[in-house]
Amino acid sequence: MERKKIILDCDPGMDDSMAIVMAVKSPLLEVKAITTVNGNYPADVTAKNALKVLEMLKRTDIPVARGMMEPMFRDTPKDPFSHGQDGQAENYLPEPAVPLSEKHAVDIIIDLVKKYPGEMYLLSTGPMSNLAMAMKKAPEIKPMIPGIIAISGMFGLNEYAFANATGDTPQSEWNVYVDPEAAAIVYNSGVPLTALGLDVATHFDVNLTQEDRKALKCSDRPEAKFLYQAIEFVNKRGFEAYCTVIDCMAVGYAIDPSLVETFEARVGIETKDGLTLGNTVVDYRHHHVWNQLPKIQIGRKADYGRFLKLLMELVLA
Ligand code: BDR
Ligand code: CA
Repeated sequence: MERKKIILDCDPGMDDSMAIVMAVKSPLLEVKAITTVNGNYPADVTAKNALKVLEMLKRTDIPVARGMMEPMFRDTPKDPFSHGQDGQAENYLPEPAVPLSEKHAVDIIIDLVKKYPGEMYLLSTGPMSNLAMAMKKAPEIKPMIPGIIAISGMFGLNEYAFANATGDTPQSEWNVYVDPEAAAIVYNSGVPLTALGLDVATHFDVNLTQEDRKALKCSDRPEAKFLYQAIEFVNKRGFEAYCTVIDCMAVGYAIDPSLVETFEARVGIETKDGLTLGNTVVDYRHHHVWNQLPKIQIGRKADYGRFLKLLMELVLA
């Protein structure tokens, strides 16, 4: 079977690091590049962290390109959550020996989409600054992108969407909150977008069991030890294990779309400062719906057990 070609645009980040692990180890995906963006940490840190993960996996053949150093129109906000001093749950992986790609992330995205028209899926697990900039710089790529799968937004579908809001306004999700204008560009681009929000990606059922943790601890795979340490790191700070694998759901969905049930709806992004900055507002109305809002696919619920099984299999493999 032909593998699905992807670019993983991310801001590692402990859960982005695990998303890289899953994507690179999946026999069903072909990771053509990892592009990094300012988000959980500045872009030079996130780029270096991506390289560190690839070195851990001995997959330095995959290029890593650094992208946008700032959101498109605003300063980087303060992250209320911490991924630790190194941005990788204090795993302190060795400094990378392999250099970054000489190309800018935005140009790698443009070049790869053009090289594989209709085939190059974009996975987005950080702010959408690189994707939006690529669409601005080369709008002709938009019809060539078969789909974007993003950890993005919160849609008020369950209590987790609210209780686990990650942005620094009460109901926003971090990746949208950091660069809401970029998110608005991507949501409005016409490219098929599946947004897996906090409703599914931070669902309490995304929790690794004691048995899983034991298997991670006993494994001799460094990526298993990485995840084990990440869980310890978040637990010590009063958070649950799901925090360490939020971004992995985008990879799980890319591998097997039957893992997440989605529905179509119109969504607008709040780009005005204040209480609701970064909110992803769904127009659920039957009547008077704002037809000017773009239609996207939204994750409603996931098969959490099957997702965790896939995750564990790939980490331990
Ligand atoms: C997002 O916030 C970040 O901290 C995580 O890496 C994830 O991409 C969830 O809102
Ligand atoms: Ca992320």
